[in-house]
Amino acid sequence: MPASDYKQLIRECVLRDEDFIKATFSGQHRDRTVAWIKVVVRPVLVQGKKHMQFSYFDTKKDITKNYRDDESAAMLEQLIALEFKNVHVQSARRVITVTVTHKGKAIVRTGTSESQPRDPNLSHDRQKARLLTATGAAPFLKAVGIMSEDGKIRADMQSKFRQINEFLKLVQQTGELEKFSTLPLQVVDCGCGNAYLTFAFYYYLNSVLHIPTHLTGIDVNGELLARHSEKSASLGWSGLTFQTTSIIDFKPVTRPDIVLALHACDTATDEALAQGIQWDSKLIISAPCCQHHLQKQLDHQPAPRPFEAVERHSILKERLGDILTDTFRALILRIMGYQTDVVQFVSSEHTAKNLMIRAAKTVNVGDAKFVREYRDLKDFWKVTPYLEQLTGEDFTHLLAALPQTFHS
Ligand SMILES: C[S@@+](CC[C@H](N)C(=O)[O-])C[C@H]1O[C@@H](n2cnc3c(N)ncnc32)[C@H](O)[C@@H]1O
Repeated sequence: MPASDYKQLIRECVLRDEDFIKATFSGQHRDRTVAWIKVVVRPVLVQGKKHMQFSYFDTKKDITKNYRDDESAAMLEQLIALEFKNVHVQSARRVITVTVTHKGKAIVRTGTSESQPRDPNLSHDRQKARLLTATGAAPFLKAVGIMSEDGKIRADMQSKFRQINEFLKLVQQTGELEKFSTLPLQVVDCGCGNAYLTFAFYYYLNSVLHIPTHLTGIDVNGELLARHSEKSASLGWSGLTFQTTSIIDFKPVTRPDIVLALHACDTATDEALAQGIQWDSKLIISAPCCQHHLQKQLDHQPAPRPFEAVERHSILKERLGDILTDTFRALILRIMGYQTDVVQFVSSEHTAKNLMIRAAKTVNVGDAKFVREYRDLKDFWKVTPYLEQLTGEDFTHLLAALPQTFHS
């Protein structure tokens, strides 16, 4: 297609389609220098008025600006003139993908929109969570055994399918996924096990959000991983690889931007959190599983008053141990510079283990308020969380740095 035609197609979809959702411009030709690695355009409502939001990303920063009417048309013209290598435009009904060769020839593909949301999201600061649809994700859902050959979610996989969507929604809600400017994104899934969520996350980032992503699933179960590698190859997903290793021994070639640890057993969760902190990963998502380390410490000492009544009942004592473990984890992450929240994550396999810790590296390290909370909680329960042992000196220095006078 001649350049003038594909440019007109982009203009029409971005400026005239009522249900326009998002346009992503990325990649540059070797002989050209474009200041931005990626530019994302999407409609937003600002004080009740429709604007076009332009987000410009380079390796160090991102700049976001909102424009109205003629101004947004002029900004789009500037963007089109930069002749990015790849353009992806999506409305609720159609998807246009343009690849411009280095000779200036445009290869244009058009199709119907995969996620088909009824309305484009106009929220000012967060993109609508566009999750998996059974139709769009069919090839991978079939490959991992969630969907039958006739295109239906298997009866015994309904809850897994719901869990996948719930997981994607909770990660999307952090608002962090679209902020990465150095691509491809590097993700590691620690203790990936059956890897349903691993495949889903890879698919979601690459094919729904169109964020180029490499993902490595790691686990100690090599047999399982060999099967996942075959499936990944059969889907042609070269960026999804698997490696047999324990989490603590894993040495990534490129620093991971995102660390996942979903129901990794016991202290494997702590290994993943410690690695994420040490790698300075921007986002750490963890759904803790069984936890015994702190439990054992509680078993070996009398309950502090007035907790005798709770510890009298083994199930309550166990839950208390779980809650304390996750509270310490959340505090350590916060002290190490991660804005952290703990939310409910419905699990299809571990119904009692239904928490998710979401941590984004966006705040200052060593905040005295949280150091004090951590020390108080630790002194009260007379325990040392495993994650503290794993984080080592970086963390203990921060604990020691706070003057004792702060300590209530
Ligand atoms: C309960 S499965 C979770 C699987 C998957 N993440 C999910 O949420 O469905 C836990 C997995 O963690 C792996 N695992 C446990 N400890 C590990 C460690 N220290 N290093 C690597 N993998 C580990 C196990 O082999 C198992 O496959």
